[in-house]
Amino acid sequence: MESTFSTLLQRHRSIRRYKPDAVDPALIEQVCGDAIAGGSSSGNLSSVSIVLTRNAERKQRLYELHFEQPMVLQAPLVATFCADWYRTRQWLRQRGARDNFDNLIGYHVAAFDAMIVAQNVCLGFEARGLGVCYLGTTLHSMAEIAALLDLPDTCLPVTTIVVGHPDEIPEKRDRLPLHAMLHDETYRRPTEADIDAIYAQREVRGWERYMAVPELKARIEALGITSLAQFYTSEAKYDPDVFRADSLALQALLEAKHFLPAPQATPEGEPR
Ligand SMILES: Cc1cc2nc3c(=O)[nH]c(=O)nc-3n(C[C@H](O)[C@H](O)[C@H](O)COP(=O)(O)O)c2cc1C
Repeated sequence: MESTFSTLLQRHRSIRRYKPDAVDPALIEQVCGDAIAGGSSSGNLSSVSIVLTRNAERKQRLYELHFEQPMVLQAPLVATFCADWYRTRQWLRQRGARDNFDNLIGYHVAAFDAMIVAQNVCLGFEARGLGVCYLGTTLHSMAEIAALLDLPDTCLPVTTIVVGHPDEIPEKRDRLPLHAMLHDETYRRPTEADIDAIYAQREVRGWERYMAVPELKARIEALGITSLAQFYTSEAKYDPDVFRADSLALQALLEAKHFLPAPQATPEGEPR
C-alpha cells in the first residue's frame, strides 16, 4: 500500500496484537536493505547490526527478557538493533590502522546509527501495512540479550522491534503540543503555567488510558498514586531505583564489552 510520507506518519500506531501470519522473508530483506541504504550513517561506517529472531524457542527466551510482553510471542518477527563496532574494529586491526571508538562518543555514534536504521525499518514495514512496536525493555536486559544472540565484543542491543500483521487498530495516541518542543533560535523555558497547559490533555487522556486497564488500575490504587506524573516514576512504570541500578549495570557492561575503557586504577589499586 503506497502513501505519502505525511500520511504514513499520521497513520502510525504502535501495534501490540498480531495475527500469526509470517512476514515474507523477501520483504524483510528489502525493508532492512532500504533502511540501511536510505539512512544517514556516521562516517558511512554503518556501525549497526540487525539480528532477526523467528525461532519459537529463542522468541520464548526473548519474551522472558522483555518482561513478558505478550507481543514478543505473538508477533512472527522480532528484530534486535545493535550498536556494533566489532566489524569495523576488526577491519581497522586487519589493516594496521589505529583502534578507536572504544569511548563514550564511539558508543553514542554506534547507538545513533542503530536507532536511525531501526526507525527506517519501522517506516518500511508500516508503509507496507505491517505493524511494529518498539521494546524499550531492551535497555534493561542488554547483557542477557547479547548472550542469547551471541553478540561479540563491542556489539550490544540498543533497541528491539516486534513486526507482524496487525490484529488491532488502536486509537491514535496524542503527542505534547508542538510548540512545547519546537524552539525558534534559542530555547524557550516553559513557565509553570506553560507546563500546566502543555500537560493538560496528557494528564486526562494518559490517566484514563492507564486506569482503563483493570490490573493497572488496581496497582495504581494499591500504590496510592493519584496523578499521571506520580505514575511515571512509580515502581509500576519507570522506577527510578531500577533505572539507577540498571544504569550502573549498563556502565559495567559497556566496559566489559570494550565499548568503554576499563576504569583506571589509582596508585593504591582502587578504582577511581
Ligand atoms: C524506544 C522506545 C521503546 C518503547 N518500548 C515499548 C515497550 O517496551 N512496550 C510497549 O508496549 N511500547 C513501547 N514503546 C511504544 C510507545 O509506548 C509508543 O510509541 C508511545 O506510547 C506512543 O504511541 P504510538 O507509537 O502508538 O503513537 C516504545 C517506544 C519507543 C520509541
